[in-house]
Amino acid sequence: MEKDILILGIESSCDETAAAVVKNGREVLSNVISSQVNLHTLFGGVVPELASRRHIEKINPVIEKALADAGVTLDDLTAVGVTYGPGLVGALLVGVSEAKAIAYAKGLPLVGVHHIEGHVCANFIENRELEPPFLCLIVSGGHTHLVVMRDYGEFEIIGRTRDDAAGEAFDKVARAVGLGYPGGPKVDREAKGGNPHAIEFPAAHIEGAPYDFSFSGLKSAVLNYLNHAKMAGEEVPRADLVASFQNAVVEALVSRTMRAAGEYRMDKVVIAGGVASNSALRAALKESCEKAGLAFYRPSPIFCTDNAAMIGVAAYYEYKKGRRDGWDLNAVPNLKLGER
Ligand code: KG4
Ligand code: ZN
Repeated sequence: MEKDILILGIESSCDETAAAVVKNGREVLSNVISSQVNLHTLFGGVVPELASRRHIEKINPVIEKALADAGVTLDDLTAVGVTYGPGLVGALLVGVSEAKAIAYAKGLPLVGVHHIEGHVCANFIENRELEPPFLCLIVSGGHTHLVVMRDYGEFEIIGRTRDDAAGEAFDKVARAVGLGYPGGPKVDREAKGGNPHAIEFPAAHIEGAPYDFSFSGLKSAVLNYLNHAKMAGEEVPRADLVASFQNAVVEALVSRTMRAAGEYRMDKVVIAGGVASNSALRAALKESCEKAGLAFYRPSPIFCTDNAAMIGVAAYYEYKKGRRDGWDLNAVPNLKLGER
């Protein structure tokens, strides 16, 4: 019998300090996430310096808990996987340094993981039968990409945002309407009580780039709508406003995804990233995929937002392909997808 491959995954790219133990690629033995939401709420967004400091405080206890929850020790591990980009440089450095220290002390292989590849790999946790190739819509706070995952670690980018990421648009609109940080989940909740067709916001289309996205115009349209209403002394029902905004985002994401699935002859559609936990997006894509006869996969919300289980899964496939990083592994804040 082959020996189990146990990977310690570490994630610290933004405002979550996380560690997880993953067995043989898809079995999550533990998944510990220490969120910094309360720390940053005071400032209306993530303060990079505070994030780094909090990561330093939390990284050791979080890893100790991940090992304890999994019932293993550092001596049982096969390798250490860590997010080395993209993200906030100071935040990334905490995880990368920690991973290097553990790997060096224990003589373990070190595997650097691309954060976005991790998000995509989150889908493998609860769908043991899912294999590439598939079409994936990646929607997070920093990224909006439509990609074809050809094989493990191989991505063909077919569309991307020209300006704001989808999550960024959610966060900015949430701030403008007084919902505060973190915006996405608050808009999602508030929109449930609103009419998504109350206001028709414009949809952006980019000439010659059918799969590219643009959300800054939509965000401005929401702000303009608010300003006009304020000057006219009109009351704008917030639930209607955010439901209409969310509907416009979902419409832009779903229409491009479905068109790409047809053109690239994909029979599986997958979503990933923090915005993939949005209830309206999940429902709309599920319905469209069902109508088109396509299989639709999405991670549970806890695996959509930042976590280390997804990093452990991605590290497993990189490890199997022979990827090993040296002690010179560094944080790469603007690492592109598919780049090493
Ligand atoms: O993937 P993620 O946790 O971190 C990044 O890699 O960026 O994504 C965070 C983003 C934030 O912009 C947050 O507002 C958004 O995901 N988000 C949501 C929801 N939950 C998180 N956006 C819309 N609806 C949600 N339920
Ligand atoms: Zn993320």
